Amino acid sequence: MGIFSEASGHAGNPVEEQDKIAKELIDRGRKVIKLSRGDPAVYFKTPKYIIDAYIKALKEGKSQYEYFYGAQELREAVAKRYRRMYGLNLDVEEDIIATNGVSESLIFLNSVLMNKGDRAVMFRPFYTLYEGLLEINHGRAIYGSYDEGDGWAIDLDHLKKALKNSKRIKYMLITNPNNPTGTVLNRKMIEEVVDIANDNDIMLVSDEIYDEIVFNGATFTSLAQIAKGTKHVILNGASKNFDSPGFRIGFMIVPGKDKISKEFKERVVKYAQMRLSVNTPAQYAVAEGMNNIKEHKRSIDHMVREIADRTNFTYKMINESRYMEAVRPNGAFYILPKLNIRDINVKDDTEFAKRLLLEANVQVTRGSGFGSKNHIRIVTLPDKKTIGEAMDRIERFCRKNNR
Ligand SMILES: Cc1ncc(COP(=O)(O)O)c(C=O)c1O
Repeated sequence: MGIFSEASGHAGNPVEEQDKIAKELIDRGRKVIKLSRGDPAVYFKTPKYIIDAYIKALKEGKSQYEYFYGAQELREAVAKRYRRMYGLNLDVEEDIIATNGVSESLIFLNSVLMNKGDRAVMFRPFYTLYEGLLEINHGRAIYGSYDEGDGWAIDLDHLKKALKNSKRIKYMLITNPNNPTGTVLNRKMIEEVVDIANDNDIMLVSDEIYDEIVFNGATFTSLAQIAKGTKHVILNGASKNFDSPGFRIGFMIVPGKDKISKEFKERVVKYAQMRLSVNTPAQYAVAEGMNNIKEHKRSIDHMVREIADRTNFTYKMINESRYMEAVRPNGAFYILPKLNIRDINVKDDTEFAKRLLLEANVQVTRGSGFGSKNHIRIVTLPDKKTIGEAMDRIERFCRKNNR
């Protein structure tokens, strides 16, 4: 390791690991189709009213460090949003902490809770950063699972077994709607998970960054609507619902008044103090994003309609292929097909993704990066013409490598 820490070996993000090769191919004149990065602003312009609010904030001189807890306007807007959407009564002064994206919330979560040998429960397949951030903080994962055969619902029996003899569990993290599966947990499932967390006295964390990107008849339920009275944390932000990932705005909501929740908040705030501030003008822009209900509805409705159409189109093409099959998504903008690896002449999903980029110039993410071997994650944000072309290339690649 030399001068480097052991923990830093866990850093990185599988979503980006092939970006360098993709860039080299593009530089050599190849038309690479990228289905790897879940960045909505590449495909849908950030709404004008939000951009205008950002510019207005700058013109008003809002370029100072903001209060480390987050701008009052943003925290008030978040509280109003959660009252409107989920009937919650959050304390603006204490319960909402602004962060530089959900990514920073995850850094705080692990920094505050994990000591060497502590554990956290996450479900396979998981969002790529969860495992690395846990390990950087010397924590170890206990894996529950989303069951592909059951529409990616949580396998409750497996979870109960996994928790049985485990000690020092600091938190259990669910993702709803889910990245990488693109599915939404139903209310009953969340109730069961809350019961299990209570029985085992575990803090529940729900990453709900896609909570407005729900379609195909699914209904989203926030953990906060169910976990009242138990210790829990909600992670959310502006990257997806407000189509502004580059603003780097997120927030952590800790509604509980119990001793643990209070101390957790105090400790998170100390980390927030040490990084001084979240992007100031962006906080004002996102506050306007949430408060201007009419404009927001217009842009999110358009985006979700398009995403549903593109995702359903991708789903249809995948299931027409004999080389892949997938669960139909109803949220976020991903699909996670299983490769019929016995029919394709590749060792595993890693080789598949690598060669697919080199030979067919389509960039996807290997499922093993999400803890789901022999799957690939496809981002369903590009227009149907692009997705159609990419799926044709994937099909030709599979046929050429038919085993
Ligand atoms: C489930 C999930 N959580 C967190 C993030 C990161 O969010 P942010 O841009 O707020 O850091 C992403 C980004 O793709 C995500 O899919």
